[in-house]
Amino acid sequence: MIQFLLNQELRSEHALDPNLTVLNYLREHVGKSGTKEGCASGDCGACTVVVGELQTDDDGREHIRYRSLNSCLTFVSSLHGKQLISVEDLKHKGELHSVQKAMVECHGSQCGFCTPGFVMSLFALQKNSDAPDQAKAHEALAGNLCRCTGYRPILAAAEQSCCAKQPDQFDAREAETIARLKAIAPTSIGELNSGDKRCLVPLTVADLADLYDAYPQARLLAGGTDLALEVTQFHRTLPVMIYVGNVAEMKRIEHFDDRIEIGAATALSDCYEALNAEYPDFGELLHRFASLQIRNQGTLGGNIGNASPIGDSPPLLIALGAQIVLCKGETRRTLALEDYFIDYRVTARQESEFIEKIIVPRATAEQRFRAYKVSKRLDDDISAVCAAFNLRVENGVITDARVAFGGMAAIPKRAAHCEAVLLGQPFDNAVTERACTALGEDFTPLSDFRASKEYRLLSAQNLLRKYFIELQTPHIETRVTAYV
Ligand SMILES: Cc1cc2nc3c(=O)[nH]c(=O)nc-3n(C[C@H](O)[C@H](O)[C@H](O)COP(=O)(O)OP(=O)(O)OC[C@H]3O[C@@H](n4cnc5c(N)ncnc54)[C@H](O)[C@@H]3O)c2cc1C
Ligand code: FES
Ligand code: FES
Repeated sequence: MIQFLLNQELRSEHALDPNLTVLNYLREHVGKSGTKEGCASGDCGACTVVVGELQTDDDGREHIRYRSLNSCLTFVSSLHGKQLISVEDLKHKGELHSVQKAMVECHGSQCGFCTPGFVMSLFALQKNSDAPDQAKAHEALAGNLCRCTGYRPILAAAEQSCCAKQPDQFDAREAETIARLKAIAPTSIGELNSGDKRCLVPLTVADLADLYDAYPQARLLAGGTDLALEVTQFHRTLPVMIYVGNVAEMKRIEHFDDRIEIGAATALSDCYEALNAEYPDFGELLHRFASLQIRNQGTLGGNIGNASPIGDSPPLLIALGAQIVLCKGETRRTLALEDYFIDYRVTARQESEFIEKIIVPRATAEQRFRAYKVSKRLDDDISAVCAAFNLRVENGVITDARVAFGGMAAIPKRAAHCEAVLLGQPFDNAVTERACTALGEDFTPLSDFRASKEYRLLSAQNLLRKYFIELQTPHIETRVTAYV
């Protein structure tokens, strides 16, 4: 059984198809059809809902953390122990919520199809920031598309509703909701099943390892932002899933003198602070990774586990020399991330083995790390090419070179020939040009709808030139990421 709050109503579910999305659950099982389906692929934001989770701060204060999610890509099993809020829950005692009022007063809605999604993103923004600036409002709304109103009135609604916010019914009931969430906090393995389809929800790494051993055919479900597409876009059925998002040990970020260890089930938005502080270019990349809804849901482990050649974090992590800890039963092994990817969607992961955590080395003074993403849109778009450069330059000579790319081969990959040209050389124009030529030996990219093979190779070479120029002229803004 799994349990969650549907706003304030306790729902206990066990006999549900685990392939059921929260969107379809709301619309077809609960009769709440305010949440809309636009794309069923995480691209439009019409299905945005907010999920509240109990959190305890370092000082021991308990509160509810509200986050916007795409309900079209969220399976119901991942609600276990949480609070689900949909657009119907905002109106209170006959009065519209302040974000809804602002949308009306600022003329932020025309046909209205996108409006529930925008309202929920605004609600999450209001809950998470006191006086959001334009950049914060853009970030909160970048995953919501509107085809008719235009964004200016919606941004005005963001300013009106979030900059002088008043307490609402959720604030008034916070203590009560915390008590109810504590009462349903999972204490044992949860399960949703229907016929021979099931999703299991372990709470510890040990339970996850045991379950994966017992069900080696299971698909691991983290944020579901890749996995759910198999159901919503390819109309497949996933007979057995194991949801890793309730395993607390896999959601921790720990800092050591020489490394940061990030649990594989940590949401990308939770990775931001740690990675941005250490490597600002990683933070910049995460800002351009999908939308806020996807980053709230998608995990670092899922981005690696998916083994896509155009996943954004692997080239950066490979250039940084990151490692992963793989767990199977009681056995653990540590592997350099670059050795994890073997061929297109083929990895070194064995049966019943899962990624437990990612180990990222801390930054050093000699390191020159930069990352660049080339995509057709600035926000919410997947890379045509993603480049990460990490040179150590001592006394003007390159003493270590790690260069990795996404979108250039069947796997995220280091550029061995390019690195060999750079190593031991001064980082000057002539060496850079030779290294650019060597990239042609490292990669034979493909042409597809994102970019042609010629465009990809030229982009990779130009990004290396850009990196060189930026390092020579540190007074200019160096963290500009390129886009088509
Ligand atoms: C609209 C949209 C935009 C996107 N934009 C980007 C983008 O800009 N950049 C980008 O890189 N990606 C993007 N993605 C892809 C996706 O969001 C990311 O790959 C995300 O990190 C996946 O994480 P998840 O937790 O949702 O993984 P899931 O979908 O839950 O899982 C993905 C795969 O990894 C496996 N897996 C999950 N956890 C583990 C584990 N601990 N050990 C082993 N295997 C595991 C799963 O079984 C599955 O095969 C986008 C997706 C969408 C829908
Ligand atoms: S329906 Fe478009 S993002 Fe979910
Ligand atoms: S109001 Fe019509 S799509 Fe936004």
